[in-house]
Amino acid sequence: MPSHSVIFDNSYICGMSKQNAIVMSGIRPTGFLHLGNYFGAMRNYVKLQEEYTCFFMVADLHALTTHPDTKELKSNVHRVLAENIACGIDPDKAALYCQSHIRETSELYLYLNMLAYLGELEKTTTFKDKARLQPDNINAGLLTYPVLQAADIILHRATWVPVGKDQEQHLEMARNFVNRFNHRYGNVFPEPMAYNFGDDLVKVPSLDGTGKMSKSENQLATLYLADSDDMIVKKVMKAKTDSGPTEPNSTKPDYIENIFQLMRLVSSADVVLHFEKAFNECNIRYGDMKKQLAEDMVKFISPIREKAEDIRTNEKYLTAIMEKGAEKARKSASDTMHLVREAMGLNY
Ligand code: TRP
Repeated sequence: MPSHSVIFDNSYICGMSKQNAIVMSGIRPTGFLHLGNYFGAMRNYVKLQEEYTCFFMVADLHALTTHPDTKELKSNVHRVLAENIACGIDPDKAALYCQSHIRETSELYLYLNMLAYLGELEKTTTFKDKARLQPDNINAGLLTYPVLQAADIILHRATWVPVGKDQEQHLEMARNFVNRFNHRYGNVFPEPMAYNFGDDLVKVPSLDGTGKMSKSENQLATLYLADSDDMIVKKVMKAKTDSGPTEPNSTKPDYIENIFQLMRLVSSADVVLHFEKAFNECNIRYGDMKKQLAEDMVKFISPIREKAEDIRTNEKYLTAIMEKGAEKARKSASDTMHLVREAMGLNY
């Protein structure tokens, strides 16, 4: 072992104050944000930015592993940024930036690649899934996707990563890379952990009665933050229902429970109660319920959509925001990379 002093002691995290604890997360600019992203991520990021030092990043480099055509990249990056700000992420509080603007990420990614083994990369679930989806483009970037993600996170020596279940394996890999690095070169990095929202993590069901809203699956069953009012109404009115319960206080079929669940997210408590009661008394009219849900959904989504649209088309403002975020991220990145090069003995 080299004789470097201990720069970071992991046991310290437990007693760490919130202001010192660092939160980091990223989102790929490969699709439109939807209601599931809002309730599963954005809404919670907005709370986190009040309490922690937050780094929120648009993962444009990660997008290249699956979307090598860059024609639409710029407009997608702008849209995702605009949508994040419209949802309440405040560029004065959090560092909101673009991955490719931070060159230190690529350097750290390179060093971490020497600590990542082919076997573990090949058995990553997301790699296997993507390799199956794009058999003609199983590139090395796809294989080392989790290494780049680990670099994003530990570049800021972040401890909390608010992400969904599908990212847990990547976080576990990041912890392995951290431990290998710390063991070999001295303690530089804390172990990053998934930030769990507990009760705040709500399910946002899709409108076709199957699973959750998602970027890639049935687009008509997913409500996007960019959907027009007409589109929102059309999608909600198409949601599956039936002729209603025949027994008082019956259990709701999944597709009906989903409509109630969506209503609980955007409608007032008395509206929800009204339809709960109608269901339990077997006089519910699903047409009316969906009309009400559509109206409340439009009220919820349209201000976000309009705000995002204003921001998206203001390129000057977006450029300024990205530069501001990049400055904060670069400061943190260059501090870390200084420690990394020292620890690795790359200081000649
Ligand atoms: N892999 C993440 C996803 O697909 C996106 C991502 C990139 C990310 N870098 C990150 C998430 C760093 C958290 C932290 O959703």
